[in-house]
Amino acid sequence: MKIALLYGTETGNAEMLCEDIEGHLEGDHDVAMADLGDTDPAALDGEAFHLIVCSTYGDGDLPASAQPFAEALEKAAPDLSAIRFAIFGLGDSSYDTYNEGSQKLAELLVKFGAKQVGERTIHDAMGSDMPEDLAFPWAEDRIAEAESLFAES
Ligand SMILES: Cc1cc2nc3c(=O)[nH]c(=O)nc-3n(C[C@H](O)[C@H](O)[C@H](O)COP(=O)(O)O)c2cc1C
Repeated sequence: MKIALLYGTETGNAEMLCEDIEGHLEGDHDVAMADLGDTDPAALDGEAFHLIVCSTYGDGDLPASAQPFAEALEKAAPDLSAIRFAIFGLGDSSYDTYNEGSQKLAELLVKFGAKQVGERTIHDAMGSDMPEDLAFPWAEDRIAEAESLFAES
């Protein structure tokens, strides 16, 4: 399957996790990884399934690399009804605004018509799981769901 693997990061954790996910998926899928900060929301590819990993920074805010993407999205207001995505959040439960960045990004994409596949999965830096322990099954399960959706359409 054609996968667009996108990350929103402040200090690089989401990027590192995407590199691990890319390594895990390559061979089985056609994966192209990119920073949300280098991604034009109006140019998202409806033939690809979008796997998005996004952290939370500041006070429940989007991380630095996701902010220009969100601003461009609000400004251009593209029709994203052909876009299907799943989202994985990186955060820390010692913050009251635990994982709100990934939630905000998902809501923004849905606001412009994108279809979310499956529930958001979140990782807690305070917990004992490694991010990839949750992210690999997240990616596999969401891709399986997306494959049946793409086959139906
Ligand atoms: C200054 C600072 C602010 C943070 N704010 C939040 C927050 O509001 N909510 C949350 O869930 N995590 C918060 N985090 C935790 C980060 O989301 C977590 O460390 C994540 O792994 C960072 O990923 P990144 O390097 O891809 O940005 C914060 C971390 C720092 C250092």
